[in-house]
Amino acid sequence: MSISIVDESKISAHTIATLYYSFYRELRDKQGLPCGSVEDYEKEIRELIKGGNKFFIALIDNDPAGFVRISEREGAYWIEEIFVKPKYRGQGLGRILVEEAEKYIKERDDAAYIMVLPQELSTIKFWLHMGYKMLNTIELVKYLNNPPKTEETRMLEVFGFPLLIWRWEKEEYDELELEFLSVLKEFFYKYDRVVFLKVIIYALKRALKNEKMD
Ligand SMILES: CC(C)(COP(=O)(O)OP(=O)(O)OC[C@H]1O[C@@H](n2cnc3c(N)ncnc32)[C@H](O)[C@@H]1OP(=O)(O)O)[C@@H](O)C(=O)NCCC(=O)NCCS
Repeated sequence: MSISIVDESKISAHTIATLYYSFYRELRDKQGLPCGSVEDYEKEIRELIKGGNKFFIALIDNDPAGFVRISEREGAYWIEEIFVKPKYRGQGLGRILVEEAEKYIKERDDAAYIMVLPQELSTIKFWLHMGYKMLNTIELVKYLNNPPKTEETRMLEVFGFPLLIWRWEKEEYDELELEFLSVLKEFFYKYDRVVFLKVIIYALKRALKNEKMD
C-alpha cells in the first residue's frame, strides 16, 4: 500500500469534490438533512481555491482516500474539514493529514484552530487525542417566531447554564453519555444553575476524597 499526499495544484477540483461530497453526505445523513451534489461542491471548491484555501489530498495506491482543508480567516489558520473514507479509517491517515496541515500552518503562524459542533462527540474526542484543547465560542439565538420543540434539542451545560444543541437523527453517544443527557434534562426542569453548580461541587469534592461512585 503506497500513501502519497498532494495539494490542490496536483489534482482536479472534481476529484476533491467527490471527497468533499462524501464528507458532507456522511455529516448530513447524521443530521437528517439533505446534501448538495458533487457539481455544487466542485463549484464551491474552485471558489475556495481561488480564495487561497489550501487542500491536502491523501492518495492510497492512487485512490483519493481523504483530504484536509485549511483556510486563513479572522487573523488565524483554521482546519476547516478533515475526512478519511470509511474503508481507510483507523490506519493512521487522519493523523498524516492533520500533521501535514499543522506543518503548513506552522510555517505561517503559531496555532491551528478548528470549529466542531457539540453533537460531533467522536470528532471532538479525535481532536482532543490529537492534542487540541477546547476553547471559546458559544452561539446564542433568540427565536422570534417559533422556538424549536424540546424533543428537537438536547441539553448540555456550560457553567450551569443550559446549552441547547440540535438532536441529530443518528447520534453516537455511548450509554454513560446518554444517561448524562437524560439526567441533565430532567435536572434543569426542576432546578436552576445554582443548584447544579452546588451538586457538581459537592460530587467533585467527594470524588477528590476518593469516595466510591457507582
Ligand atoms: C476523524 C477522521 C478524519 C480520523 O481519521 P482516521 O484515519 O480514522 O484517523 P487515524 O487512524 O489517523 O487516527 C489518528 C489517531 O487518532 C485516534 N482516533 C481516531 N479516531 C478517534 C476518535 N473518534 N476518538 C479518539 N481517538 C481517535 C486514533 O486512535 C489514532 O491514535 P494514534 O495515532 O495515537 O494511534 C475520520 O474518522 C473521519 O473522516 N471522520 C468523519 C469526518 C469527520 O468527522 N471529520 C472531522 C470534522 S471536520
